[in-house]
Amino acid sequence: MNDNLNVNIVMGIDIGGTGIKIALVNKKSGKITSKKVKIVTPNPSIPSSIIKLIHEQIEANESSGDVGCGFPGVVKEGTVKFVGNLDQEWVGLNVERELRKYTTSRVCVINDADAAALAEMQFGAGKQHNNSNGGVVLLLTLGTGIGSAIFINGQLLPNTEFGQIEMDGIVAEKNASTVVREQENLSWKKWAKRVNKYLNIMEMLLSPDLIIIGGGISSSPEKFIPFLDLKTNIVTAKLGNSAGIVGAALSVKST
Ligand code: BGC
Repeated sequence: MNDNLNVNIVMGIDIGGTGIKIALVNKKSGKITSKKVKIVTPNPSIPSSIIKLIHEQIEANESSGDVGCGFPGVVKEGTVKFVGNLDQEWVGLNVERELRKYTTSRVCVINDADAAALAEMQFGAGKQHNNSNGGVVLLLTLGTGIGSAIFINGQLLPNTEFGQIEMDGIVAEKNASTVVREQENLSWKKWAKRVNKYLNIMEMLLSPDLIIIGGGISSSPEKFIPFLDLKTNIVTAKLGNSAGIVGAALSVKST
C-alpha cells in the first residue's frame, strides 16, 4: 500500500534562512514517511522564488494534500509580521493564502521554532511535560538565527522571539547562533560560552522547567553541552533537525 495516500500523511515544510526541508509526515506517529528533500534557500530569498520551489514539491507528491509550513519569523493567521533572516518582501504576505493556491486541502503556516516545539512536546524530549501540570518548557533552535518557543502547562505561547533580545550590545541571534560560530570560526568552547550567557539570561527571565535545544546542532550535544553551566535541565531535541518538519505537519490539525 502506498502509505502516502493515507489521510494522516501531511506535507511538512521547514523554511530556513539557509535551507528548505520538505518531507511527508505521518501525524499519528510523528514519523517521516518519505525521502527528505533539502533545497538551498534561494538568494535573494524572495517569496516568489521560495513559493515556486514549494509548489513544485506539492505537485510532485501524492499525499492527502494537507500542507504544514514552518516559517522563520512571526506569523499571525498566516501573515508574516516579522522576518529576520529572509528577504523583507515577506513582511505583510499571507503565506497561507499563497500556498492554498496549490492545494485544495488544508494549509497552516506557523513560526518554525513553534513548529519544532509542537513536535518535541508530542513525540520528543518534552513529552513528559505535555500536560496541564507540565510547567514551562523553553525550546530554542540554534541555526541561522535563534528561534524560541514556550510551552506553559501543555499550551504553546506562539511567536515568542527570544532570539531578538539584546546581549553584549547586539541582537542575541547575531551573537550566539550556529551560523555565527561558523562565520567567526569560533571554537566550540568559545561559542558555548556565548550560548551559556544567553541561556542564563533566558533562565533568569523565564524560570523554565526544561530547556530543549533544537536545530542542526542538536545532533552534536557533546560539542557544547559540557561547557554549559545552568540550573535548568537541558536536553537536545529528540527529533533532531527533523522536529521543524514534523511540527509543521502537526500544526495542520492543532489549529
Ligand atoms: C526569527 C525567528 C525564527 C528563528 C529561527 C529568527 O531570525 O526571527 O522567528 O524562529 O530565526 O529560524
